[in-house]
Amino acid sequence: MQTVQDAAALRAVIRGWRNQGQTVGFVPTMGNLHAGHHSLIKLARARADRVVASVFVNPTQFGPNEDFERYPRTLVQDQVGLAEHDCDLLFAPDVTTLYPFGAASSVSIHVPLLTETLEGAHRPGHFDGVATVVCKLFNLVQPDLAVFGQKDFQQLKVIERMVRDLSLPVKIMPAPTLRAEDGLALSSRNQYLSAENRALAPQIHTTLLQMRELIAKGHARTVVEQAAASKLARAGFEVDYAAIRRVEDLAEPADGEQEGLVALIAARLGTTRLIDNLPFD
Ligand code: PAF
Repeated sequence: MQTVQDAAALRAVIRGWRNQGQTVGFVPTMGNLHAGHHSLIKLARARADRVVASVFVNPTQFGPNEDFERYPRTLVQDQVGLAEHDCDLLFAPDVTTLYPFGAASSVSIHVPLLTETLEGAHRPGHFDGVATVVCKLFNLVQPDLAVFGQKDFQQLKVIERMVRDLSLPVKIMPAPTLRAEDGLALSSRNQYLSAENRALAPQIHTTLLQMRELIAKGHARTVVEQAAASKLARAGFEVDYAAIRRVEDLAEPADGEQEGLVALIAARLGTTRLIDNLPFD
């Protein structure tokens, strides 16, 4: 597997493939890759002739008090994992390649409505950073398809919306969330957890399962949401939200609505913020 840092080298490799009529699948990441990321590579591998991954810890999607500085950077390890999973090319740009005028002066993409709730409400500006960097990466790689994990459910919705609204010629492929045996969704941030908090963390998934069960039994949405948040708070979580929303637009469902729903939770254990979700189909 080849690694390239600059846009010209990236484009030269991809042009060569295009000239041979090959399709390109893309997996954007922030590195510190684990089995969840490798499953995205596998999906891209199955659907395209060539697979490109990117590793870039994107400064514009972190808030001022978030973990940008301490976000784990493990490029050499990431290269080994990507090569093992048959990735063809790693794009690992530096910040000036993606933000030639500086991150603070960049053109920015804002996806309205969808980004004002849930993660967007708790992490102001986060999705502008995500949409902007993904759009830049799409323009550089020009893939036929790109794979995004359902673990970041709202991110997936934001990207789908951006792609449709800006008529970007990329097919977005969602990939199912990978979990540890005890149900905890795989995430680069899990490694921040103390042993004690790691033992508590799977309660997020069990709570999501309970939310699904209670809605199926006909309980009112707001009651289910409040019960979930209280249960997690009692266990020691600091809960940002425990919400049931429509899959389609993340709007609040009407009372009694049961089809096309997803439960989403964001909660902090110590200094580690965890998110997870469960579509009800
Ligand atoms: O999901 C992530 O790792 C990031 O948000 C992404 C999509 C690579 C953009 O920086």
